Amino acid sequence: MASDHAGFARKQAVMAWFRAEGIRFADLGCYSAESCDYPEFAHAIARAVSTGEYPLGITFCGTGQGISITANKHQKIRSALCWNTEIARLAREHNDANICAIPGRFVTDEEAVAIVKTFLSARFEGGRHQRRIDAIPLDCTGGSTS
Ligand code: RB5
Repeated sequence: MASDHAGFARKQAVMAWFRAEGIRFADLGCYSAESCDYPEFAHAIARAVSTGEYPLGITFCGTGQGISITANKHQKIRSALCWNTEIARLAREHNDANICAIPGRFVTDEEAVAIVKTFLSARFEGGRHQRRIDAIPLDCTGGSTS
């Protein structure tokens, strides 16, 4: 779990649900609603997922954009902006997303929990989707990595 100040409240709501369900998680910050900068927390969770320390990440910022854009700079990260349950399901089934980025200012606590629940229960379909995912990294194109 990671957020900036704009996603802090939604993150608290999802963590409360995790605790109630007995789902283990780590909170990589931020730790209050005081203004802060999302890249710090995006890089922290992207590193934790990239190294395999955690299998999946859930992130929040105001729009979900900044924290997702930053996480996606890490080659092994596929961060998907998920603003409803259908998008969350497809992000796992088709994109094998390993981070679910939620727009904290545009969903309710209940919607955030439903999005996370769906993201965690959906499974990657593989097949043609695996071929597409294999073609995502810049170093698989033979072209420039800039
Ligand atoms: C913070 O005001 C806001 O810009 C941030 O949470 C996020 O929406 C950026 O993408």
